[in-house]
Amino acid sequence: MKLPPFFEEDRLVVDAALERLLPAQTAPPSSVHTAMRYSVFAGGKRIRPILCLETARIFTSDVTPALHPACALEFIHTYSLIHDDLPALDNDDVRRGKPTCHKKFGEALAILAGDALLTLAFETISATLVPSERCVSILSEVASAAGTINGMVGGQVADVEAEGKRVDPQTLEYIHRSKTAALIRASITAGALCAGAGPEDVTRLRRFGETIGWAFQVTDDILDVEESSAALGKTAGKDMAQQKATYPSVFGLERSHEIAKDLATKAIAELIPYAERASRLREIAEFLVLRRA
Ligand code: IPE
Ligand code: IPE
Ligand code: MG
Ligand code: MG
Ligand code: MG
Repeated sequence: MKLPPFFEEDRLVVDAALERLLPAQTAPPSSVHTAMRYSVFAGGKRIRPILCLETARIFTSDVTPALHPACALEFIHTYSLIHDDLPALDNDDVRRGKPTCHKKFGEALAILAGDALLTLAFETISATLVPSERCVSILSEVASAAGTINGMVGGQVADVEAEGKRVDPQTLEYIHRSKTAALIRASITAGALCAGAGPEDVTRLRRFGETIGWAFQVTDDILDVEESSAALGKTAGKDMAQQKATYPSVFGLERSHEIAKDLATKAIAELIPYAERASRLREIAEFLVLRRA
């Protein structure tokens, strides 16, 4: 699927900001900084920072302050991937087309690089150039999305504990909404809060983010079945091999495609009040379920 041109423009701006915000490789302790930079610049799609910037653009023409939360979300996402790939979790050797962080640097540094990225994320948000009450709201949104109550860590716990078991649709929904949708939702609400959106807009965009984030993980499960490792930049077919709780395993592939599409339609309907101002967000939402990698 061809990406809209603004994707590439945003990606370049985000990459330059990530470069500025990460400690230099030479700064001691250089081993952990090298590992952090290796994983951040391994070639991710930058979906979360792009969602953050494009949500901010609904409310403001100057999205520069939103670069801080945008990069923070990419730091947290990268940390979640480094830890997700560890032998104790999904035990993956390849990520973003390269050896995983622990394969390259060893488990101790991979764990610590993840910890460091999570901490750097909050330092980065705290330096966002917006009034302090907005900054506190962003910190709170992001912290809870990364945490245990309906957040990323909680979802990862449930994902690991569901391995090899038959899960019911409610548990599957909980896993996907927590481990993946929460951070995607926070990317969107952080962009909105940063740009000064009011409570009604934040609530509406929170629903958009939650629903499109859920659809995104259903699509990730589908791609694990349908695509090659070369296309994905990570080992395909792993979910079945590890008996993971996925949409294809519970509902079958055909129904999973319908679920992803229905969720995307429901999410996109939340954007109706913004009309043309949300055209980019709409394009991203469509990409998130039509993508092939
Ligand atoms: C992969 O996320 C992990 C999930 C939460 C499904 P992405 O597909 O956004 O990974 P990158 O950042 O492009 O590598
Ligand atoms: C990842 O889910 C969710 C995270 C919070 C990292 P997966 O385990 O399905 O992600 P991939 O397929 O390894 O990227
Ligand atoms: Mg996993
Ligand atoms: Mg995994
Ligand atoms: Mg997956």
